[in-house]
Amino acid sequence: MHRAVLLQEVLENLKPAPGKKILDCTVGGGGHSRFILELITPGGKLIGIDQDSSALKTASERLKGFEKETVLIKGNFRDAKSILTKQGLGKVDGVLYDLGLSSLQLEEGERGFSIKLNAPLDMRMDRGQKINAGNLVNKISEPDLKGILKSLGEERQAGRIARAIVSRRPIMTTHQLAETVLRAIPAKRRSARIHPATRTFQALRIAVNDELGALNEALDNLPGIVKEGGRICIISFHSLEDRIVKHRFKAYKKANILNIVTKKPITPEREEILINPRSRSAKLRVAERI
Ligand SMILES: C[S@@+](CC[C@H](N)C(=O)[O-])C[C@H]1O[C@@H](n2cnc3c(N)ncnc32)[C@H](O)[C@@H]1O
Repeated sequence: MHRAVLLQEVLENLKPAPGKKILDCTVGGGGHSRFILELITPGGKLIGIDQDSSALKTASERLKGFEKETVLIKGNFRDAKSILTKQGLGKVDGVLYDLGLSSLQLEEGERGFSIKLNAPLDMRMDRGQKINAGNLVNKISEPDLKGILKSLGEERQAGRIARAIVSRRPIMTTHQLAETVLRAIPAKRRSARIHPATRTFQALRIAVNDELGALNEALDNLPGIVKEGGRICIISFHSLEDRIVKHRFKAYKKANILNIVTKKPITPEREEILINPRSRSAKLRVAERI
């Protein structure tokens, strides 16, 4: 099961109330949405977007009993504005982005997201998409691969890893990839905390799903989808995303489009991290549409 991260903090800041229209751009397992629905009923509407069909299936199970108040849509949140228009739904009172991957996706072995589970190199959130991790690992040039590992994984050993991958090609599975990276990094340079291939996996996943491109586009469209006084909550899980959100909020404040509610991001309490270790790197930033 996927446990909703920073749930109380999201509910306090998103301010769902009866009759409100809330857009959950990353509905995932429906963890946040379930509680939002309880607070916007009666009279409210929850629009849940996800690019992963299996996530939508789980969400529809989790949100049973709220069929009348819920619209679930398969799509990319970069297109949220046109999705709302197509549905004839107009602007919303609140929008939530809980970025990245859900535990469900990580635990679905055959998706290729997890270093621990051996699977073909896939990593697509939207399985209708053409490019997967195998294409990147086996087809792109060494300098391009190095660039991805460096910029999206903040991997210091990007050069060594890219070289090792290119000389071991074809690499077909997650375990072959993890082992190739492990062998490429000398023991003294390996982190004691995380698997040496963690950053490589992160970089490839972000590249395959164009996660930063989608976030930037979503932020471009933000002013057009939220009503005056509406709240925007964004949870990110790594510094690249958080930096993008922070800078965009600042630019929108300067342009008198948003007020920043959280000067510093909200992070999980110790208790939450103990119960749900996945939450440890979560950062929630909140803004209000002017
Ligand atoms: C961290 S999970 C969300 C979990 C959800 N808040 C819950 O509590 O169950 C992120 C979800 O967002 C989806 N996702 C990520 N990027 C997306 C994008 N650009 N467009 C649509 N969905 C996206 C993923 O497929 C995943 O299901």
